[in-house]
Amino acid sequence: MNAHDSEKVVGTLVGQGYSQVETPEDAELVLYNTCSIRDKAEQKVFNRLDRFKRENKGKTFAVLGCVAQQEGEKIFERAPHVSMVCGSASYNQLPQMLVQLEAGNKRVTGLSLDTEDTFETPYTRRDNPHRAYVTIIEGCDKKCAYCVVPFTRGPERSSTSDSVLREAADLARSGYSEIQLLGQNVNSYRDPSPTGWNFAQLLDGVGKVPGIRRVRFTTSHPRDFTKEIIDAIDRNPNLCNHVHLPVQSGSTEVLRGMQRSYSLEEYMLRIQWMKSAARPIAITSDIIVGFPGETEADFEATLALLDEVEYDALFSFKYSRRPNTPALALEDHISEEEKSRRLAILQEHQRAIQIRRNAQYVGVVAECMVEGFNKATGQWMGRTSQHKMVNFLRPSSDEDITGTYLEVRVTRSGPNSLVGEAVQ
Ligand code: 5AD
Ligand code: SF4
Repeated sequence: MNAHDSEKVVGTLVGQGYSQVETPEDAELVLYNTCSIRDKAEQKVFNRLDRFKRENKGKTFAVLGCVAQQEGEKIFERAPHVSMVCGSASYNQLPQMLVQLEAGNKRVTGLSLDTEDTFETPYTRRDNPHRAYVTIIEGCDKKCAYCVVPFTRGPERSSTSDSVLREAADLARSGYSEIQLLGQNVNSYRDPSPTGWNFAQLLDGVGKVPGIRRVRFTTSHPRDFTKEIIDAIDRNPNLCNHVHLPVQSGSTEVLRGMQRSYSLEEYMLRIQWMKSAARPIAITSDIIVGFPGETEADFEATLALLDEVEYDALFSFKYSRRPNTPALALEDHISEEEKSRRLAILQEHQRAIQIRRNAQYVGVVAECMVEGFNKATGQWMGRTSQHKMVNFLRPSSDEDITGTYLEVRVTRSGPNSLVGEAVQ
């Protein structure tokens, strides 16, 4: 979402007559988009801002994104060389804010979360010519106990189904064949127009846009994840057979503490729907270890969940205390050392699962969207519908096949990717 926010911000500035340069050194105005999901990401921001100051004297600096929203005007005190702070819910105010900045105002802010709008801009500048991000819902109403997002991105608000379909059709006309629908909780999507579509209906709609060959979506929340979504994937081959469904913990007790609003049994029901889909669906997830109150038995329940689901990939994190969040009231009793131990065990456990799972693809022929050429290895890189990376050889040819679709036979596998050969 942050990457796409940056694309939209660039588009907005270009629409205002600015031009983009390659490095901060070449810029007069440096906008720094930030993340505050974990403390480590936030610390990086202030280190980077100090470095910017030392290396780029005389430039105008702005801080965007979640750290801007969270720290607000305090950023001006901590980093006096910054002249503008703006959270993502205020990006549609950027044109007016830039006018103030250009007028020499040294304390420009956009920090209101009180918005019913999504950040739509006709100028979005996309970095990838084949795969386009499309935001369908912004903000989050879920309020998980550990999470800063509801405080930094504001309440949920959806784009109309009409504008999503129009954008998809425009993208197809401009040569994009893959669309990734984005939102903190895409499946909480609620069309605000009289059409009133839910997320599954939107998937059905986007899956039928001529020229769009692949549709992905992220992130889904288990609570609003319906069987209808799997039915839509079954009906539309253009909907990729991959679902990212963060579970966070394999213990219902910890899930309750996290205020995730589902039990392990309810989560597993959704996994069963996916496992009985018409096409094999790749399932990926997020896990937090060391949440307050997590016992050794809770942690082992998470390991058992990994064995049961056999995730295709996992993003795992040590719990990090965040400002404003309900979990701050809980004692963070698990030492950093113990969190690191659990994380290492979890990642090792998952690595063995991925080795086993990926080995099942050897001999399979899969359609890949070609993402580029790796000069170091002499291999092309592609992705299957299940989002598996395949590095493959192709009889020598100078033709650039990036963005095309090819059948690739998988010949070898590793924990994180597959190796194959293009089928003639
Ligand atoms: N500490 C650790 N991990 C977190 N995440 C969100 N908040 C925190 C936190 N305070 C993780 C969750 C989420 C992913 C995007 O980041 O797993 O799904
Ligand atoms: Fe954060 Fe929970 Fe919202 Fe995801 S659903 S953004 S984890 S509050």
